[in-house]
Amino acid sequence: MSLETSYLGLKLKNPVIAGSSSLTGKIEKIQEMADHGIGGIVLKSLYEEQIMADLEKLIEQEEMYFWYPEATEYVNQLAKNEGISQYLQLIRETKKACQMPVIASINCITAGAWTHIAKNIEDAGADAIELNIAIFPANQTVTSLEIENEYIQIVHKVVNEVKIPVSVKIGFYFTNLPAIVSHLSEAGAKGIVLFNRFYRPDIDINKIELTTPNVFSASEESAITLRWIGLLSEKFTTNIIASTGIYRYDHAVKQILAGANAVQICSVLYKYGSKAISQITDGIDIWMKEKGFKSIEDFRGLVNRKSVNTMQWERIHFMMRSNEQMVKPVKWQADE
Ligand SMILES: Cc1cc2nc3c(=O)[nH]c(=O)nc-3n(C[C@H](O)[C@H](O)[C@H](O)COP(=O)(O)O)c2cc1C
Repeated sequence: MSLETSYLGLKLKNPVIAGSSSLTGKIEKIQEMADHGIGGIVLKSLYEEQIMADLEKLIEQEEMYFWYPEATEYVNQLAKNEGISQYLQLIRETKKACQMPVIASINCITAGAWTHIAKNIEDAGADAIELNIAIFPANQTVTSLEIENEYIQIVHKVVNEVKIPVSVKIGFYFTNLPAIVSHLSEAGAKGIVLFNRFYRPDIDINKIELTTPNVFSASEESAITLRWIGLLSEKFTTNIIASTGIYRYDHAVKQILAGANAVQICSVLYKYGSKAISQITDGIDIWMKEKGFKSIEDFRGLVNRKSVNTMQWERIHFMMRSNEQMVKPVKWQADE
């Protein structure tokens, strides 16, 4: 029995990949994850703004259009101290220290001049590039089509720069996800990561001001990913990877049953440390033994293969009152 699988044509010893974050920017953390058996790693993101800052100017403090809380400070700091050359060094060091596939990550919002850096990333030894395209759709004068075209242009340009596979990590703010996934695949994306989890502002009702929210996901959030993995893996041969809300082995198993080629984990690594990796892979291993599956391919997409149509994934309303009747009222608690 084996947990081996492939993603973007790369051989993974198991389907659990560390998603991009500042944890995957530190060689000692990466090493620790490797020791706990991580299947692959997506390095911390190099930001388009950081590349341009390195090439041209330092980013303005006020340019607050990032989707991550740490991003502005991070970009400013890194642009000063750790530009492109440090990122390339991180790739080289990680490749030297670890056996697993190393995927570089670029956080970008335009198909601009930065794209030629992809070639440097390839030359530094990265096995693949993940584009975290995060265009914030908050401008009423820009059409959805224009935004989607920017995504497609970015992929086109980067794919033309390199021979290594390119994947795209997207959020779920699209009118028609199958259409954008189809266009990204046609543009050359070999994998689609569903979904990026964006910064979610909160309000402090005592200070009456915006406040920093909890940046970590909850496992319930994986339900959105599950639906779209189920639907999209049915329609496309492009590799699809599940991200957001995966904390335990059963979360990973569900995504693979829905058709995911692999899963990415991030919040669980912050909250519980690298030991979460072996807990997840051991759990998948035990479950596979119990079910008699010899390989990941034995059960990948099995839920779709068993059912004849995709209607259950597509259903959006609770049509039967019995759903409500199943919920028994519980005593209300003030902290809920
Ligand atoms: C503190 C923090 C920093 C992150 N930084 C990045 C980043 O630089 N690039 C990126 O693509 N995703 C970044 N992410 C998103 C994660 O890779 C992941 O997509 C998201 O957290 C959902 O997965 P999870 O539920 O396992 O945490 C970050 C997440 C967190 C919590």
